[in-house]
Amino acid sequence: MTGVGSTEPAGSAGAGFPGAEAENSLYEAIQEERAKYPDDSRSAVLPALRLAQGQHGWLSPDALREVAEALELTPAYCKSVASFYDQLHLAPVGEHLVEVCTNVSCAVVGAQRVVEAFESELGCRAGETSDDGKVTLRAVECLGGCGWATIVAVDHHYRTHVSAEHVPAIVEELRGA
Ligand code: FES
Repeated sequence: MTGVGSTEPAGSAGAGFPGAEAENSLYEAIQEERAKYPDDSRSAVLPALRLAQGQHGWLSPDALREVAEALELTPAYCKSVASFYDQLHLAPVGEHLVEVCTNVSCAVVGAQRVVEAFESELGCRAGETSDDGKVTLRAVECLGGCGWATIVAVDHHYRTHVSAEHVPAIVEELRGA
């Protein structure tokens, strides 16, 4: 594995070194994405960040460094792009991600009560992860399902017409998953 400050390029770690295989496979996967775009490697930064997040679980400083090295960009540039997208995580997240829309259409049918029910069931506030590491709860802007409010995205799959009464069963399902 390439360490911070190492002069060894990503993807060149020796066989048998812990993490070398995973890092090599990420480097290679990013190169495959990069080949789909024109010369400017910045075009591949989003798919590369998604690949890195898929491997690391979140975009840790190490993950950002690996993306930057694979695309010959700076970690700061990669972080600046990642910071623009809700779906890219610059902090650790739980095993499951619960996102409750609190925008207007959902708010008028009780989205805040849904958020509070999740907070109560999970024992954490919106923006935090439950102590068991199972669920990260987020209150988010419009998820584009206004006609089916309240929308709750569970691991990016939408649950429609969610009310506070539905929350205990959702949390039980996630804790058992
Ligand atoms: S306002 Fe909630 S999905 Fe649009």
